[in-house]
Order: sequence, then structure tokens, then C-alpha cells
Amino acid sequence: MQANEAKPRYAGTKKHSQIHWLLYCRPGFEQDCAQEALRQAKQQKPIIDTEQPAIIVDSGYVVVALNEQKLSWHELIFTRQLIRLHHSITALPERDRLTPILDAVAALPGTFGTLWLEAPDTNDGKLLATFTRRFQPLLETALREQGRLQDDPHATRLHVFFPDKNSVLIGTSDPRNSAEAIMGIVRQTMPDEAPSRSTMKLAEAIAVFMDRSEQTRLLRPGMQAVDLGAAPGGWTWQLVKRNIRVTAVDNGTMKGVLANHPLVQHLKQDGFKYAPRKAVDWLVCDMVDKPSKVATLIGSWFAAGWCKHAIFNLKLPMKQRVAALDSALGGIRKQLDDEGINYRMMAKQLYHDREEVTVFLTKTKG
Ligand SMILES: C[S@@+](CC[C@H](N)C(=O)[O-])C[C@H]1O[C@@H](n2cnc3c(N)ncnc32)[C@H](O)[C@@H]1O
Repeated sequence: MQANEAKPRYAGTKKHSQIHWLLYCRPGFEQDCAQEALRQAKQQKPIIDTEQPAIIVDSGYVVVALNEQKLSWHELIFTRQLIRLHHSITALPERDRLTPILDAVAALPGTFGTLWLEAPDTNDGKLLATFTRRFQPLLETALREQGRLQDDPHATRLHVFFPDKNSVLIGTSDPRNSAEAIMGIVRQTMPDEAPSRSTMKLAEAIAVFMDRSEQTRLLRPGMQAVDLGAAPGGWTWQLVKRNIRVTAVDNGTMKGVLANHPLVQHLKQDGFKYAPRKAVDWLVCDMVDKPSKVATLIGSWFAAGWCKHAIFNLKLPMKQRVAALDSALGGIRKQLDDEGINYRMMAKQLYHDREEVTVFLTKTKG
């Protein structure tokens, strides 16, 4: 191997003091991911003299160069994981991948709380799983012997990301500004009893948007919810599982245990016209329609005081996705601001989302 093939590339140059970021996303959404990150950075300071984002279509990741701007994982919809990139090594020698990686890690300061070996969420990336499983203990043992790895979930994480078997990107993440799960994917298992795979979408949304104490506080037995576009019942199932009463609105049929469930009232009505008789705690909505139409509906529920919390899906158009989301979410913000409502809103393209994103909206105290 040539010595320069393992040369650190992302340590920042004196000339531009660039900071490189490695962002994971759903394959096919690299452009949206980069566009959104650059926009967030530009809102802080103009981006001067940095290279264009390295976008490989369908790769499941992007590398973005910024000046000193910071990125906020919580506010990036298309970014699954946010990593400060330090080194890139191409042409890893097949017989000894470990040494160049250890050399690159040696150049980083401090110790790490967690080591995650990762690969893109693509078919090719999945083929690397056996390799990363075998490689993990080798690297982990070496780093422990050097005193660089200490088990601490709150400390900086070390990411060793293999776009393929012969190259590696090495970076770090801050647990307060990144996803808590390897590859940024909060995995869910399909419950036997749930009537549709969509149930995993709501389960993932609850896990990503709310910490444990918020889940306990906001999803309590005896609460009332409305599920718009409920059939066949995957989202309703997540709520009744938590002993929450649900009014399920859909012209379609509720299936399995939800066809006749003591906590579920099924109404065959239009979800865009339905109005609750009394305010409820939760609104969930998975109706497939224009994002602007769904956003207006959600905003009007909050403005009318019909619910306190909501989780809903916004289907993405084929083009101009970032602009469509901006407009839909901006519309909700305006409706709530006009009413003087305090709120927290977070949107993410979750692992179980395809051409859509999921949004959490909750009223907060003053
Ligand atoms: C993606 S599916 C919902 C799946 C459901 N969340 C689950 O977990 O099983 C969308 C549903 O929205 C319903 N839908 C679409 N437009 C609607 C409307 N205007 N009023 C009520 N339901 C509607 C459809 O009938 C369909 O059942």
C-alpha cells in the first residue's frame, strides 16, 4: 500500500479550517439530506470556499464540508445520524485493515464511550455485516488495550464506517446531538398481534421523539386519542396496547383484534371532516394526502384545542421535497404562533418511513 493512501483527509486544513460531516440517510435521499444540512449551516453563517457535498446517489450517506457552522441532528429531517468526520482511508490493505485504522484513531484526542462499526443501509452495505461483526472485537480489544475505549454511553462515540470493505470513514458523534442507535436506526420488531406493519412506524416515532420519562408522562392509561386514517389498525394497536382509548376514523376495515376491541370506537367517516365531541389527548394521522393539506388539518386541531399531542405522517412529493416540507411545517408553525400556542415540533424520516416523514408535535407550557 502507498503511504499516502491512509493519509488523514478530514483533519481540517489551516487555509479554510473546514469541518467535514458524515451524515447517514435513507438511500435515495442523499440530495435532500445534503440540501437540508447546507441550509441549516447557511442560516448561521455564509459557507465560504468549501467543496461541494460528495453525493453518491443511493449510497445512504453524504459528506458535507462546512466552515465553523454547527449542525443540529434534532432539526435535520433527512439525517439519520450526524458524525463529525476526521479521517478517510481508501485502499485498506486486505491483510491488515486494523493498523491504518488504529493509526488514524491515534491521531484523535481523548477517549471514547462507545465504538460503532457501521456500513451503509444498502444491499451492498448489508453484505458487510459479517465482516464488521468479525472486525469489531479486534478493533475493540486493541482500543481497550490502548485505554482509548471506556464504556460510557454519555461520552463521545467513535464511528468506523465502511462504505465498502476497502475503505473506511472515521468520525465521532456527540450523544447529545445524534441518534442513540447504531447506524441511526432504532429497530423495531413486528408484534404478532398488530394488524399491519405500519405499527412499527408509530413504535419507532415514540422511541425517537420521546425519551423514557416523556413516554411515561405523555402516553398514560386512560388517555383518549383519535386516529385519522386508522385502518387496518397498526397505529391504533400501539395506543390500545398502552391502554389508551381510540376513536379510529377510516372508511376501511379495522382488522384482527381491533375489529372488535373494547377500547376502540371505529367511525367510517372522512378524517378531514371529523370533529371530536370533546378534546382528546392525542391525535395520530396516517392519511395519504398532500403534505400541505395534512399540515393544515393538524394545525387546525391544535388551534381549536382539540388535542395536546400529535404524531402524523407527511407524504413526500417526488421533487422539491425539502421545499414541500418547509412549506407544510411552516404552515403549522404559523397557525400555532397566531394562536399564541407554545409547542415542540420535531420531524424525521424514520427507518420505517419510505416516501414520507413523521412529525411529533406537542403543546408545551409557556
Ligand atoms: C397508510 S394507511 C393507514 C395505516 C394505519 N396507520 C395502520 O397502521 O394500519 C392510510 C389509511 O388512510 C385512510 N384514508 C385516506 N384518506 C382518508 C380520509 N379522507 N378519511 C379517512 N381515512 C382516510 C385509508 O382508507 C387508509 O386506510
